[in-house]
Amino acid sequence: MNHGFLQDVLAGLRLPQKTLPPKYFYDAKGSGYFDQICQLDEYYPYRTELGMLPDVAGELKQYFSGKSLDNIQLVEFGAGSLHKVKPLLKKLPVITEFVAIDISGEHLKNASADLAESFPKLQIKVAQGDFTQPIELALSQATSMGFFPGSTIGNFEPEEACEFLRSARTTLGKESYMLMGVDTKKDEQMLERAYNDSKDITARFNKNILTRMNREL
Ligand SMILES: C[S@@+](CC[C@H](N)C(=O)[O-])C[C@H]1O[C@@H](n2cnc3c(N)ncnc32)[C@H](O)[C@@H]1O
Repeated sequence: MNHGFLQDVLAGLRLPQKTLPPKYFYDAKGSGYFDQICQLDEYYPYRTELGMLPDVAGELKQYFSGKSLDNIQLVEFGAGSLHKVKPLLKKLPVITEFVAIDISGEHLKNASADLAESFPKLQIKVAQGDFTQPIELALSQATSMGFFPGSTIGNFEPEEACEFLRSARTTLGKESYMLMGVDTKKDEQMLERAYNDSKDITARFNKNILTRMNREL
């Protein structure tokens, strides 16, 4: 029995407004549902951010060459299927090492095997863990850049978000960088369509947490 999971569920379901930490969505099945969500027309955040990243990478390339940086290790928090790191790796050969952190270990392992095939020279490290807790990564001496896309910071309450950023700073070390993707304010209807899609994939993704609770607790 995962006691942390049990404690979090009990604490969340005892509140007047019930809540569960989003990290529990992501067992192997949940990660699969999230990949399907990313392919939905209604789920604009995924394709919008993915479409922006080649330009962002171009800007970073200029910035890093101005700083004479020639070796960067990229650390993605909540790396998922590793789709968004690809536009960065394509345009930024200065990234020689990549550390992928995710709570969904099996899914991450499969995704990193695919990434290794596409980028054979890249050093890839996979870390299964909870990024809300300090993670010992044994980072190299290269300058670190955190990568936190997907508006995942929106999963946190404001104080938790500050705590995450403090802990990421400790993980990444001094003089490090952070590239973060955050959604802007949206029309209510657009949000409802994105997070309550017509094919009910998001509903299945959400309800999977209940199946997981029944199975694991
Ligand atoms: C919204 S998805 C974003 C995936 C990918 N970065 C993207 O932008 O498409 C959130 C990812 O973070 C992972 N995740 C969520 N909470 C986490 C936690 N506390 N620790 C580690 N990984 C977490 C999930 O497994 C999932 O892969």
